[in-house]
Amino acid sequence: MFTFSVLFGVMMPAHVVYVQAARQPYDVHKIIDAFRTPNDDLKILCAHRGLRWNGTAENSRDSYFRASEADIECIETDIHLSLDGQLPMTHDHGLGRTTDIGEMTGQAAYNPYTAEGFNPKVGGYNFTGLGGIEQLRLRDEQGRVRDEYVPTLPQMIESIFDSGMNVVLQLDFKDETAIEPAYWALKHLTNRAGVPANEWCIYKLQSVWYQTPEVFEALPWVQDAFRSGIKLAFIPVYDPEYVGIFDQMASAKLFSQTNYTISLEVELRNVGGPIQDILDYTRDKSSPIRTAGTFFAGGDFTFPNTDKLTFFDTANYSLPADLHVNNSLYTYVENKAPMLLDAQVGNSSSDGHDYRSDFNWIIEQGYQWIIADTADGWHSRLEKQGLRNVSRLIADGRRVVDGTLAKTWYKRSVWWSAFA
Ligand SMILES: *[C@@H]1O[C@H](CO)[C@@H](O)[C@H](O)[C@H]1NC(C)=O
Ligand SMILES: *[C@@H]1O[C@H](CO)[C@@H](O)[C@H](O)[C@H]1NC(C)=O
Ligand SMILES: *[C@@H]1O[C@H](CO)[C@@H](O)[C@H](O)[C@H]1NC(C)=O
Ligand SMILES: *[C@@H]1O[C@H](CO)[C@@H](O)[C@H](O)[C@H]1NC(C)=O
Ligand SMILES: *[C@@H]1O[C@H](CO)[C@@H](O)[C@H](O)[C@H]1NC(C)=O
Ligand SMILES: *[C@@H]1O[C@H](CO)[C@@H](O)[C@H](O)[C@H]1NC(C)=O
Ligand SMILES: *[C@@H]1O[C@H](CO)[C@@H](O)[C@H](O)[C@H]1NC(C)=O
Repeated sequence: MFTFSVLFGVMMPAHVVYVQAARQPYDVHKIIDAFRTPNDDLKILCAHRGLRWNGTAENSRDSYFRASEADIECIETDIHLSLDGQLPMTHDHGLGRTTDIGEMTGQAAYNPYTAEGFNPKVGGYNFTGLGGIEQLRLRDEQGRVRDEYVPTLPQMIESIFDSGMNVVLQLDFKDETAIEPAYWALKHLTNRAGVPANEWCIYKLQSVWYQTPEVFEALPWVQDAFRSGIKLAFIPVYDPEYVGIFDQMASAKLFSQTNYTISLEVELRNVGGPIQDILDYTRDKSSPIRTAGTFFAGGDFTFPNTDKLTFFDTANYSLPADLHVNNSLYTYVENKAPMLLDAQVGNSSSDGHDYRSDFNWIIEQGYQWIIADTADGWHSRLEKQGLRNVSRLIADGRRVVDGTLAKTWYKRSVWWSAFA
């Protein structure tokens, strides 16, 4: 009989990995189905770079465990390609903000607020070997160095296997050249339930890279997936920034008819703005694709709750007490004074606003899935609104998620503080 359990892993000498992840009894194929199929009582949530606050570094194992413990079924995550062809999971093109490369190389640590310090490109480094990325520790969002190292995508998949987590990933490739190596690296990996990683790691690709199914299906790795019977999960990202570059609506219609496109990401900034037609298409009952997702823009690398604890020197930059002004939100912008999201929206919006920082607005647009920095907060809010019936995601024969597990996840920070 299935019982909920908390796994206690081992402390390994080189890389200290302490696995203490509650695993919800989700079936990853059901999660993928919930991307495809609109449900009136369930919005899908993707934790943006994992749950990465309060001392947990983004794209770290800990951020994954926390997401899983908070019942979150999807993690949106970032992939780069290192010089030696490995797949380090970092967001920025530079290593400065998210690792201790400054300290490790005897140079000034990078400060994202001022752009001072050492911030070399990920792609200029080997992952393995002396001076490799694998020796770098991760920094949390407040700039503190944690006792955790930069993982590669396959290593993260192995951690998911080891801890028995049942999550799907949205792979956000920061570098187009990392896509094919990721496919081959994942080909023989599975989660604990034995499901191939290439069926629950969603290839979420910028639509501008492969604009039609014809181009996409000609890729050697996509052909290999077809030949091998792997059910790829693909989401093309449509964005107002690509207006004028190619016909996104035509692209969306073609991809919608394929067996591997599970949903569309439609980064609409306001009602009636550029690419509204694509969102409308997903709402049309006769269209082959009936779901869309978006990003909840809540500010990039600083969260107001923890802002006053920031260890980075914010120099003369600070956030105003009230972040919400004119239906917009103040956020830190790398190397610049905090700015309203609206100040960055340009002609991606037809009324000058970026509404993606407005929870209610996103729900009103009928999005089926949302990428959010604060996925745990969204989970509780949506639950109250009857929009988080996660029992739809539970594996057959398993029992309903035990919500009390979600309340235990701060315990880990006690452990971290002993090592910080
Ligand atoms: C950080 O922890 C505090 C205290 O438990 C909590 O109130 C706050 O919501 C947390 N912040 C985030 C972003 O989770
Ligand atoms: C990367 O690794 C290769 C092969 O070991 C080596 O020849 C090269 O010097 C390394 N490059 C850097 C920047 O460390
Ligand atoms: C999906 O479609 C492709 C061609 O469009 C086909 O080769 C492949 O077998 C199909 N895959 C599945 C899992 O049905
Ligand atoms: C947005 O504005 C810029 C100039 O401000 C212009 O070059 C570009 O074509 C505009 N894009 C769209 C989609 O209107
Ligand atoms: C902050 O300081 C920098 C120089 O260190 C200066 O260029 C910038 O204008 C200042 N910003 C504000 C908002 O005062
Ligand atoms: C808010 O909108 C008003 C009216 O358009 C404008 O005068 C004001 O400068 C705006 N505030 C900010 C912080 O942009
Ligand atoms: C939740 O979804 C399940 C199907 O998985 C359904 O049987 C159940 O009635 C739903 N619960 C509520 C409260 O709607």
